[in-house]
Amino acid sequence: MRTTGAEPLHLILVESALELVPREIWHHELVKKHARKRGKKPWETILDKSIHYRAMLRLPQHHKRGRPDIVHACLLQALGSPLNKVGLLRIYVHTIDNRVIFVDPSTRIPRHYYRFVGLMEQLLVEGRVPPNSDKPLMRCERMLLEDLLKELGVSRAILMHEGGSRISVAELGRDIASGMRRGERIGVLVGAFPHGSFSSDVERLASDKLSIFDQVLDSWVVVARVLAGVEIALGVC
Ligand SMILES: C[S@@+](CC[C@H](N)C(=O)[O-])C[C@H]1O[C@@H](n2cnc3c(N)ncnc32)[C@H](O)[C@@H]1O
Repeated sequence: MRTTGAEPLHLILVESALELVPREIWHHELVKKHARKRGKKPWETILDKSIHYRAMLRLPQHHKRGRPDIVHACLLQALGSPLNKVGLLRIYVHTIDNRVIFVDPSTRIPRHYYRFVGLMEQLLVEGRVPPNSDKPLMRCERMLLEDLLKELGVSRAILMHEGGSRISVAELGRDIASGMRRGERIGVLVGAFPHGSFSSDVERLASDKLSIFDQVLDSWVVVARVLAGVEIALGVC
């Protein structure tokens, strides 16, 4: 199968439940205690539901927030995929508080969750890792999803959605692969949050809404299935 000259696929994790502890709960005892234990200020730590659950109850949309482990699992799937290894994948993390993380394909993120959290804290505080590098492995900017799609020149944004039109993974893989071969800039958008729906802003940006199964799947399962469909259709593996 021909892959030379194909346009890379742009995978975008959307409204990801990854953010620094927000100002509203900086003074909550639970937040202060956890930050102190780690030798950090509350605003230098990542919001994590398993640690900050009681403090989070007062935050808007708390059911959708504080799950950095979802991003971790998705990044492990995507960065380790054969599609990434042959240079045909670009990965971005759009967060619930409208930042975008640009991930270099050669990044090897920590396998261990706590080390991943430490790295994300450094990234969100400093804006890049390694800090002061001219060619960072990851950099982070305040940016709306709409502006990211424009900056990337995405001509088709496929929103993976449990309520979308049903399509088989094989057919979806073939459809995306043929677009990539034609040089189309395709974005595949997967929600990286645990519960709830996409905001209307995200839904509005989608060219198609597609479902690969008749039940809700975890984000990392969707990432793995879509990438496998594309890899098979392109003959990568
Ligand atoms: C755990 S779901 C998000 C929460 C879900 N809306 C809920 O309320 O339980 C994670 C993401 O995976 C994708 N997803 C989940 N199930 C899917 C399906 N059957 N087909 C396609 N994408 C799916 C969507 O992008 C979704 O936002």
